[in-house]
Amino acid sequence: MSNRLPWYHRTTIYQIYPRSFYDSNGDGIGDLRGIIQKLDYVRDLGFETIWFSPFFASPQQDFGYDISDYTNIAPEYGTLEDALELIAAVHQRGMKIVLDMVMNHTSSEHPWFKESRSSRHNPKADWYIWRDRPNNWKSLTGGSGWHYAPERKQYYWASFLPFQPDLNYRNPQVKQAMFDIVRFWLEKGVDGFRLDIFNAIYKDAAFRDNPFAWSLLPSESNPAGFFQRPEYNLNLPENFILARELRQVTNQFGEKLLLGEVSGGREIIRKFLGEEVNDGLTLVFDFEMMAFTFTAAYFRRLIGEIEKHFPPPFMPVYVFSNHDRQRSIERLNGDVRKAKVLHMLQLTVRGVPCMYYGEEIGMRNVRLPLSTALDPLARKYRAIPGFVFDLLKMNINRDEARTPMQWEAAPQAGFSSAAQTWLPVHANHTFVNAASQSANPDSLLETIRQLLKARRQWAALSEGDLEWIGGTPPDILAYRRTHPEGTLSIFLNFSPQGQSFAFETGKVVFKLSADDGPEQSGRIHLGGYGGLILAAP
Ligand code: NOJ
Repeated sequence: MSNRLPWYHRTTIYQIYPRSFYDSNGDGIGDLRGIIQKLDYVRDLGFETIWFSPFFASPQQDFGYDISDYTNIAPEYGTLEDALELIAAVHQRGMKIVLDMVMNHTSSEHPWFKESRSSRHNPKADWYIWRDRPNNWKSLTGGSGWHYAPERKQYYWASFLPFQPDLNYRNPQVKQAMFDIVRFWLEKGVDGFRLDIFNAIYKDAAFRDNPFAWSLLPSESNPAGFFQRPEYNLNLPENFILARELRQVTNQFGEKLLLGEVSGGREIIRKFLGEEVNDGLTLVFDFEMMAFTFTAAYFRRLIGEIEKHFPPPFMPVYVFSNHDRQRSIERLNGDVRKAKVLHMLQLTVRGVPCMYYGEEIGMRNVRLPLSTALDPLARKYRAIPGFVFDLLKMNINRDEARTPMQWEAAPQAGFSSAAQTWLPVHANHTFVNAASQSANPDSLLETIRQLLKARRQWAALSEGDLEWIGGTPPDILAYRRTHPEGTLSIFLNFSPQGQSFAFETGKVVFKLSADDGPEQSGRIHLGGYGGLILAAP
């Protein structure tokens, strides 16, 4: 391997939602010791980095995205010693560990907030965002983000839900306190952070009202929503400076990964990486691609846009689902053949792939009624009939994609010995599970394992530049990954029909099915939903 790039630009990321990975103590909730027991699975699958959704101390109103103590662990997940053991266990297996850092807000149960709200004059009085009168800003979840605290007879600001008050980064003590927490975990050996709603951290110092916009709901490309443009509470210039400052903190500990959860369109999110050089965050999510349509034309356009906005030395991230969205296979009507093509693209295109646990076996959403939702976002809207969200194509109940990992065809899918798990296990676990797919070379799991293996063997896949291959039929997506150590050509068939086209032949590095491959005549044949990687002869 030539290792031309820093590791965080070459890596592959697997996201673990700790509550749902593996329950080692039979309480129906996943935990850190359970994760440690299953690390070999992730290593054998071939991922190089694991990002953990938060497992810090928390009242769990938003399942860990409401932190009450950043340097301790929620008791249902384990202890600080377990976390240190987890860091060591990940490293022993040659993988990297990335924690989820929620810098924008704390839980309302955090001692900082309790002190801050207790009076207008206390050492933490200015650690959160307090105002005598609300302005017109809307929270990211809809409705005003200002909430009244009778103790101070003032309103505090919360970008997300009311129990998640935003910290005031214009107070230098707050920034230092958060940087100290970052340093605490870096000293414990973690390899980086995923950064929760990083683009919401700074708000306008003068709290100017947001301008009106004709937009009911925000989207990834256009953050305007709830009839306003969030000009004064999202993506402020100070946020881009903060990215650079945070990078300076982590640089003192070596090459660390900083992956921003940011939104607002590609022009904007690129700014978090640094204006010209790579001196901000090291990676950002591009959530527009979560709304993909399964056609070659869609992905041709997407990759073109991504290459335009994130050319080398920047590196894009390819992500198709997470704990806030529906499972990617839902967009494919549950068709595993399509899922193989989707993930083959994800693992061969120029970018860091980020895969949510269970995607590798094609886990589906579990359809759950809004009325019983545990997710606080869904609970906020539970009075609205579910079909309204279906019509709007909104996945309002995030519980549906957070259900326990399906390990085997056993009670509770082998996730837990409890009679009841925190969220129900999908009924399809009897046939959609890791154990049965491990034994099957045609399974999605084995396909992903083989692709990850190819990615480790061929520097072209992790480091190579990307070039289009022209002259293929419209349903075929074809690109080349060029690299001094060997160039690869990748072909993906987005249609159910077999396709054949002229191409100089090469050595087969990988194929999705027996139907795919070069033919004697100097042509290539791909079966329906086929895929092929060829090395130059
Ligand atoms: C984004 C996280 O991914 C989501 O799960 C959480 O609810 C919000 N940020 C608030 O922290």
